[in-house]
Amino acid sequence: MEKTLVLIKPGGVSRNLIGEITKRLENRNLSVAAMKLMNAERSTVEKHYAEHASRPFFGEVCDYLTSGPIVAMVISGANAVKAVRSTMGATNPVEAAPGTVRGDFALTIDDNLVHSSADADAAKAEIELWFSEGTVK
Ligand code: CDP
Ligand code: MG
Repeated sequence: MEKTLVLIKPGGVSRNLIGEITKRLENRNLSVAAMKLMNAERSTVEKHYAEHASRPFFGEVCDYLTSGPIVAMVISGANAVKAVRSTMGATNPVEAAPGTVRGDFALTIDDNLVHSSADADAAKAEIELWFSEGTVK
């Protein structure tokens, strides 16, 4: 059993895709272990994307993540880290396969609707960052 962090970014929330995205994870027999609708603190987003701090898109992605409400959730299940990444699809939506969240609902990399942890170490750090209160399950 693994846990991983998912963010539904402001574009996903404003387009009313919370249910659609969560349904796809649950359909795959992944479970919601914690979930909250929130306005992210910029400091949290900057820590979350710290690996990209020197990249040209860092400021924009931090602006985007703080531009409106997001959903943060912890998803658990067998092989959850890889299973969630494959459900979400490639970072650039025009390269994401049809049938993935990004391939079905997004068009541009700056509005690619979702985040999910890249590997087990990132998942552990990101869950601690976003759910300092701990998870429900
Ligand atoms: O989200 P993912 O792990 O698939 O991709 P990443 O390479 O870790 O990049 C983090 C986020 O930065 C992406 O999801 C995009 O929202 C954003 N990004 C961007 O706006 N432009 C790029 N050239 C690369 C990433
Ligand atoms: Mg990433």
